[in-house]
Amino acid sequence: MPEGTGGAVTVGAAQDAACVDVVTFGELCIAFDERVLRPRQWTSAQSDWATQLSSDVPHGAVLELCAGAGSIGLLAAARTGRPLVAVDADPVAAAYAVRNARRAGLADRVEVRTGRFEDVIGCGERYPLVLADPPWVPRQQTDRYPEDPLSAIDGGHDGLDVARGCLATIGAHLGPGGAAVIQVGSAAQADALADGAARHGLRVVQVRHFPRGALMRLDHLDTRNR
Ligand SMILES: C[S@@+](CC[C@H](N)C(=O)[O-])C[C@H]1O[C@@H](n2cnc3c(N)ncnc32)[C@H](O)[C@@H]1O
Repeated sequence: MPEGTGGAVTVGAAQDAACVDVVTFGELCIAFDERVLRPRQWTSAQSDWATQLSSDVPHGAVLELCAGAGSIGLLAAARTGRPLVAVDADPVAAAYAVRNARRAGLADRVEVRTGRFEDVIGCGERYPLVLADPPWVPRQQTDRYPEDPLSAIDGGHDGLDVARGCLATIGAHLGPGGAAVIQVGSAAQADALADGAARHGLRVVQVRHFPRGALMRLDHLDTRNR
């Protein structure tokens, strides 16, 4: 699909793209190029879940870890009216997240941070809603997806290296009464990740399964201490 011109803003590294593509994601248009993971339609279910949870959690911004071009968090921000802090280590992906926020008319309430989520979230920051879409392909299987940037899909030995890091960050930055939704690749990965949740003060409330992945809702293990 060719990119429309209305409202599109070229920002930073996204300027260098040889061929910008655009997908419709919910009611948003999301621009990206071959250096960034193509947004998958099914992952709008993560935005849907965040929207459902938004009415039950305290006021405040959504934190999105591993935002890529920003599709999941931007759709959640558009639907909930909440501010969004979107984090990605890849400067090209982060530039597209900025560009897509502007195109969606959300620039005034979206902050994009370029860097590893372990490094760019202040220790005192707390968020009532956290979304995470880490790379989750086991390293030995990444060559099955030659069209995807390796840094966007390589989850290490069992696919869960970055997801475990997300759990630690969620445990540290999820505010009182808050909820998080993290994406993994399969029911087996959801089970394996759930085993480590308590170590970070988290519990798995529900897992929703989809043909191409799974979403896990996490809360604080003991809300009395938060
Ligand atoms: C599976 S892609 C998700 C992209 C986006 N959420 C989407 O649906 O298109 C994973 C993203 O995580 C980013 N990433 C990997 N490790 C990271 C880290 N430690 N901190 C921040 N971002 C990271 C990659 O740059 C990549 O954009």
